[in-house]
Order: sequence, then structure tokens, then C-alpha cells
Amino acid sequence: NERSFIAIKPDGVQRGLIAEVISRFEKKGYKLVAMKMIWATEEMAANHYDDLKGRPFFPALVKYFASGPIVAMVWEGPDVIKTGRKILGATNPQAADVGTLRGDFCLTTGRNIIHGSDGPESAAHEIGMWFTEKECSAYSRSIDSWIVADN
Ligand code: GTP
Ligand code: MG
Repeated sequence: NERSFIAIKPDGVQRGLIAEVISRFEKKGYKLVAMKMIWATEEMAANHYDDLKGRPFFPALVKYFASGPIVAMVWEGPDVIKTGRKILGATNPQAADVGTLRGDFCLTTGRNIIHGSDGPESAAHEIGMWFTEKECSAYSRSIDSWIVADN
């Protein structure tokens, strides 16, 4: 079953959007398999975004991501990486569709409230960086067969 790393960034926590973000993924049908609040150091933030090292906005991004506690989560379900990115909306909130989290709650790229893995490799890397295997609960819900068909 596919998993994605989703994190509510410090601005999302400060603005009281934790429940809103969780609610969107939960109502869609995805399963929350790990969650914790953690205040990342700048070193952790730089490691998390190491693919963006060298970009002009990288120092600001690292400061932003480490500016307060985040809510780190792992969500599981069919196509959760790609569909999760659709739930977040475009990186630049001004380009994000209304109905997406960024389209509904953000104004600028530098304060876009949430992170989502962009592919299977980054999802595996990010989940491994923020969670141990023991912290990810593999469990079934009695409602699962009402959400996902076998075929
Ligand atoms: P994440 O889910 O956070 O990884 O965003 P993304 O995958 O939609 O975009 P990307 O990985 O390219 O950039 C990571 C983050 O860097 C963005 O979400 C923004 O918070 C920040 N960022 C990207 N481009 C800019 C920029 O031009 N200016 C500023 N200030 N921040 C940027
Ligand atoms: Mg990204």
C-alpha cells in the first residue's frame, strides 16, 4: 500500500489549520499511519529539502521550515502520493485551484502551510527520515472495504 510523507509547516500550525489538513485526507479515505509534532532544527530542514540546495530561496526555506513546530504525518492509500499533491494544490498558492488546501488557505509560495512527497523515492526517503518503522502502524479499519473495492 502506497505511503506519502505529509507535513503541516510551522505557519499551518500557527494558523490553526492542523485539523483542517487532517480532515481533508481523512475524509478522502486515506489512512493515517504515523503522526507527531516536532520542531525541526535548521539542519533537519536542510536535509529534508536537500534536493533544493543551491536554489536562491533555500536559506529562507530552511529558516521557514524550522521556525516552529510542524506536524509530521504518514498517510496511506491508493495513489496517495500523486492524489495527496492534488489535495495540497500547486506550490504557488496563486496558481493553486480553489478547493485545494493551498488554494483555499494561502497567499504566497513562501508560506504555503504544507509539504507533500513528490514521488515514491522522496516518500521513502522522507518517511525514513522523520519516522522509525515502529512508529508507522500497519492496521486495518473495518470501514476499509467501504472505501476501497478489491477490483
Ligand atoms: P513541498 O511540498 O514543500 O516540497 O513543496 P512543493 O513540492 O510543492 O515545491 P518544491 O519542492 O519545489 O519547494 C519546496 C518549498 O520551497 C515550497 O513548498 C515553498 O515553501 C518553498 N519555495 C519554493 N519555491 C520558492 C520560491 O520561489 N520562494 C520562496 N520563498 N519559497 C519557495
Ligand atoms: Mg517538494
